[in-house]
Amino acid sequence: MKVLVIGAGNMGLTYAEGMAKSAMLNRKNLMIFDKSAEILTSLSSIDHFDVYDKIEDCLPEADVVFLAVKPYHCDGLFEEIKSYVNNQQIFVSLMAGITIKKIQDGLNVKKVVRSMPNLPAQVGKGVTSYTEAKEVSRVELLMIRNLLDTTGESIRVKNENFIDASTGISGSGPAYVFYFMQSMLEAALKMGFSQHDSKILVSQTFEGAVELFNQSDLSPNTWMERVASKGGTTRAALDSMEDNNVKELIKDAAYAAFDRAVELGKEEA
Ligand SMILES: NC(=O)c1ccc[n+]([C@@H]2O[C@H](COP(=O)([O-])OP(=O)(O)OC[C@H]3O[C@@H](n4cnc5c(N)ncnc54)[C@H](OP(=O)(O)O)[C@@H]3O)[C@@H](O)[C@H]2O)c1
Repeated sequence: MKVLVIGAGNMGLTYAEGMAKSAMLNRKNLMIFDKSAEILTSLSSIDHFDVYDKIEDCLPEADVVFLAVKPYHCDGLFEEIKSYVNNQQIFVSLMAGITIKKIQDGLNVKKVVRSMPNLPAQVGKGVTSYTEAKEVSRVELLMIRNLLDTTGESIRVKNENFIDASTGISGSGPAYVFYFMQSMLEAALKMGFSQHDSKILVSQTFEGAVELFNQSDLSPNTWMERVASKGGTTRAALDSMEDNNVKELIKDAAYAAFDRAVELGKEEA
């Protein structure tokens, strides 16, 4: 199997590196293509994959093609590459808001998998949701899943609506966590801790809480009850959050991202 990644920016490179580090592909079966001279120069010192600046030299060879350009570049990309594609190739899109149908129509192909990755893929801790066109077989889908899993974990969702929904949870989600971290950092600094100590206090608190959550079957609500005793400090903080409706505001934010993903899909259609 030969894999080509089109677009060597943040996401494309992350996936190429994830696949390169896995045992799934050997080096000569991984290709990357970008049109930016600057990017091509920066890749010249990397030995994990073959780098191409001409689509005709790599695309016809590929069995699986990752599409990792910005959504607003997809029309131009389709025009440039459509004469080099064939109907046996599987196209895996990482592009937010671009529908399976748009890719099928734009490239005149059938086998398309649409996915929504997230930023922690850069450290092998990403989560990617994906769904497929009916022309993609079970065996092909399993192979794609294995490729996606090289950057973390993946979940198959039943239709494209859930791709937009996962944009609101996991795609945009790292920013919600950073928002919470930033608020706690600012509180720590205001209490007089140094930058260094504030960072450790906040990052270890997040990491530890996530680890506890992952190593048990308990819900976050149960963990909150375990930390908070009646009349205690944690209860005071949680009561303050409840009084200020923080939980509902966070849910509203996730829905705002979901709605925006749906809206972007319509704009691109
Ligand atoms: N970054 C994230 O956290 C994230 C999360 C979820 C989904 N995504 C999706 O991932 C995709 C890629 O995002 P990104 O942040 O990695 O973008 P990026 O850093 O801008 O990378 C895209 C690369 O593709 C190149 N490119 C553009 N048009 C091309 C063409 N026709 N042929 C070959 N290369 C081309 C760009 O070159 P130029 O710079 O010269 O245009 C750039 O090097 C997007 O569709 C986005 O929706 C990203």
